[in-house]
Parts: sequence; C-alpha cells; structure tokens
Amino acid sequence: MLKIGIVGARGLSTVLGFRDIEGVDITALCDLNEDVLKQYSQKYNIPHTYRVYEDMLDSDIDAVVIGSPMQCHVPHAIAALEAGKHVMSEVTAGVTMDELWWLIENVEKSGKVYMYAENYCYMPDMQVVRNMVRKGVFGQVYYGEGEYLHELNGLFVYGNGKSSWRSYWQCGKRGNFYPTHSLGPVMQWFEGDRIASISTFSPGQHYVSSKISNVRLRQDDTTVTMINMESGGLIQIRVDCMSLRPHNLTYYQLQGTQGCYEAPRGLGDVAKIAVNDGDPNGFREWKPLRDYYDKYMPERYMKATDEQKNAGHWGGDFFIVQDFVNAIRTGCKPEIDVYQAAEWTAVGLLSELSVTNGNRLMEMPKFRKNMPLSEQIIKL
Ligand SMILES: NC(=O)c1ccc[n+]([C@@H]2O[C@H](COP(=O)([O-])OP(=O)(O)OC[C@H]3O[C@@H](n4cnc5c(N)ncnc54)[C@H](O)[C@@H]3O)[C@@H](O)[C@H]2O)c1
Repeated sequence: MLKIGIVGARGLSTVLGFRDIEGVDITALCDLNEDVLKQYSQKYNIPHTYRVYEDMLDSDIDAVVIGSPMQCHVPHAIAALEAGKHVMSEVTAGVTMDELWWLIENVEKSGKVYMYAENYCYMPDMQVVRNMVRKGVFGQVYYGEGEYLHELNGLFVYGNGKSSWRSYWQCGKRGNFYPTHSLGPVMQWFEGDRIASISTFSPGQHYVSSKISNVRLRQDDTTVTMINMESGGLIQIRVDCMSLRPHNLTYYQLQGTQGCYEAPRGLGDVAKIAVNDGDPNGFREWKPLRDYYDKYMPERYMKATDEQKNAGHWGGDFFIVQDFVNAIRTGCKPEIDVYQAAEWTAVGLLSELSVTNGNRLMEMPKFRKNMPLSEQIIKL
C-alpha cells in the first residue's frame, strides 16, 4: 500500500484521484487549523491527523502532497525528502531563487520523486493541444501565449480578519509572482527547449484592490512577461491578480508554421484551431477544438467519468495524481520534474527584478542536474 499524507487543506483536491488507484490511500492529513483537520478528516475518512508537520513525517507515509501556502513549499518539500518521502508540490515551487537551488539539490540527494503539481497542464483542452503539437499538426511552434486574470480581492484577508499569505507572497511582491498556470501548458508546446531570458512590463500600481487588504499590496496591477526561448521561440504571459474584472484563468494561444490555436475568452466563445488539415487554406478558418477531441484527446480522458472530470480544475487535479503515482512506481521521470518546476517558477522571481529595473532582460539560469555553484546565480 502506498500511503499518502497531505499538508494544507488545498491538497484534498487530490483525494478522488489517489483513491481511484489500486494500492494507494490517503492515510494522513496535516493542517495547523484544528477545525480544518476535524472537518476534512471526517468528510474524507482520513484516519490520522496532525497539527505539527514533522509529526506526520515521522509516521509511515510514503509520500506527501504539499498544499500549504507558497512560502512553506520548499521548507515542507525539503523536510519530506529528508524524511525519505516522495513529494508532489502545489504551485509555485518556491519564493526565492536560492530556494529553487536548495530544492533541486535535495531532490537529487534524496533520490525520491518530486513532481510539480501544475494542474493547468492537465486540463483536457491543454492535453488535446499538446497532443496535436506532438503530432506536428501546428508545424513548428514559434509563439505561445498564456493569461491568468484572477482578481483576488476576497482572498487577502482570512475570515478572522487577519491578512492571508496571499497579501505577502502572492500580491505583496512586484512583478508576476504567480506565473506557472499561464506558463506551464505553453512550455509543454516547446518540449526540449529552455527559457533563455525574460523581461517584464507593467503599467504600475493603482492599488485598487489593496483597499480590501490590511497590508499595502505591492503587486503591479497587470504584468506582461516576454520570454525568449533558446530556440528563438517567443512566449508572452500576462498575469493580473489585482484589476477589477471578470476572471479568465485559462486563456492561451499558439502559433506554428502550419496553424494556430486560441482558447475562449468568454461570452460564448469556444476553443478553436485553424490548421492545414488536408485543406491548404485551412489555416484561414476557425474550427472548434472539440471537433478534434476524438482524434487527439488522450484515452484516459475519453474514458473518465463525470465525477473524475469534476475532481477540480476541469479534471486536472484527478489526472495529475496518476502521473505522480506512476513516477513513484516505475522510477520514470515525473511528468513535471523539479528542473521544470524551478525554471517555470523562476520566471516570476526574475520578473520582480526585471520590472523594478526598467524591464531589464534577465538571463534564466540553467536549472539542470549537478549545476556548479558558479552557475547558481542571478546574472545582471
Ligand atoms: N493549483 C491550483 O489550481 C491552486 C489553487 C488554489 C491554491 N493553490 C495553491 O495551494 C496552496 C494553498 O492555497 P490555499 O488557497 O488553499 O491557501 P489557504 O490559506 O486557504 O489554506 C492553506 C492551508 O494550509 C494550512 N497551513 C498553513 N501553514 C501550515 C503549516 N505550517 N503546517 C500545516 N498546515 C499549514 C492553513 O491552516 C490552511 O488550512 C498555495 O500554494 C496556492 O498557490 C493552487
């Protein structure tokens, strides 16, 4: 039996996924909040509860799902790896560049699986588009775009009136501090490539949302980050957690030599592609992406039940768990490994330096195996 422990209630979105796999169970839940522990251990029938994380690590669990606030991810991951547990971590991977290197070193030292839980990569449409990219439907991809527009006003203050971690570690920072929902799926279209440099732009801070928080939020209202790929490809991501506007967490677009894809932007719009699909003029006319589901949707998604599809984030929270367990059982590379986690997260960390220094171009360090200390630096 593979025993899983969860730290932070957010990790509970994985329960359905784990319990669907034979020989796997959630046996422990850790949260500082007694009420959360009581409520959810009963709801999900989880036998062991802990307020102190280290106590959960002393138990016989094999793996930890980290769903605690962002600033706890690296400390919680390192403690788990040192205790001999596999790790699946919520986004983002860490909150400083040093943390990312510490994380990589500890994953390498431990020999345990670290998987980055970027669930947006697992949304059905993202899986279809990725499959089409792999099969060459769009030709060579040279441009990708992602947008995460999520006004967070309700989340800066807890019910008891105290400031939440998001006031500091998500929106208390300049730049684009939460990049990977918009970036992750796009990076998967550039398989085998790496980020060479980034530059971030913003219209400044108008502090509309900060009236709701106890603290003065530093985040730019909107940031646009331009990402140069080593291959010459270009990615643009926009993140906006401040502006008063409807949510749109999942806008993406792709351009390749043989066609393009655009996600819906609201008001009845649908996901669509235009490709040279036997018709040389095909690239001039949109067709709904759903027309291609039968051919390009991975089999496990086609077979999924409604309950699985509704497991959270359009089914993403369900399927990601299967890949984590698969990596533990087979020893294969986790679908999103620590090096990808570090590179994607570093876009946000470097964006802070870029936007506060005249949109300066920031070189991306090479997050690769056994990098020497001399490479573990931020180059100005
Ligand atoms: N992937 C996604 O789609 C997605 C969605 C929402 C949140 N998240 C991520 O999940 C994480 C949690 O976000 P949230 O909105 O659930 O936050 P939250 O503040 O609502 O909940 C955090 C929980 O962690 C507990 N906690 C805090 N410190 C702890 C500690 N040291 N030990 C044990 N428990 C601790 C808190 O008591 C609380 O129950 C964040 O990293 C966030 O980025 C990801």
